[in-house]
Amino acid sequence: MEILLEGPQEFAAKDGRRYVLREFRMADLSSVVSINRRVLPENYPEWFFVEHHMSFPKAFIVAEMGGELVGYMMNRVEYGWSYINKGKAAHKGHVVSIGVLPHARRLGIATNMMIRGMKAMKKFYEAEEVFLEVRVSNTPAISLYKKLGYEIAGRIPRYYSDGEDAYIMARTLADL
Ligand code: ACO
Ligand code: ZN
Repeated sequence: MEILLEGPQEFAAKDGRRYVLREFRMADLSSVVSINRRVLPENYPEWFFVEHHMSFPKAFIVAEMGGELVGYMMNRVEYGWSYINKGKAAHKGHVVSIGVLPHARRLGIATNMMIRGMKAMKKFYEAEEVFLEVRVSNTPAISLYKKLGYEIAGRIPRYYSDGEDAYIMARTLADL
């Protein structure tokens, strides 16, 4: 299915349930903050979400199912050393945080949010590649990213506050 980059888009999940992907709006703030707190140890103050919404509105995606917000993907675009073309600078999409509530997992929601978010970073904010950090123990997320064409580009020792290392994973956006 062609993924739209403007407006709400309805999808049929693998189990027949329907969900909608759309841009984050301010009314979603408390739901997104609560999903983030439920599914990840890395939590941020409200202003951090608001700032990403203000700066990169088209690339802050939420998923709604049965009238409930069940997932979000928040992104930004940065300029710096490329993970793909070593020694060159690039506009890099940065997947800051993605999460889906447990009862809505394995339905393809994260996959479709990732595709929309990556395409939006390329189309609206000139991103040439995309990267993210992920805990080395986070097998579900690492599998998701590998399936989407990401490769491990580096490892940051003790990146997380509990001492765990992060992988940096990256992919080009040239083919997307
Ligand atoms: N075990 C193994 N592989 C998995 C798992 C799992 N538990 N979950 C997803 N995958 C892989 C599978 O290959 C899956 O395809 P399949 O279901 O056909 O086998 C593929 O990823 C796509 O899965 P989706 O259904 O699109 O992913 P989902 O909507 O369930 O969300 C996510 C995945 C976001 C990782 C979810 O499990 C979650 O919210 N986890 C907790 C929060 C988290 O870890 N976020 C990422 C942190 S890193 C960062 O934010 C940059
Ligand atoms: Zn990051």
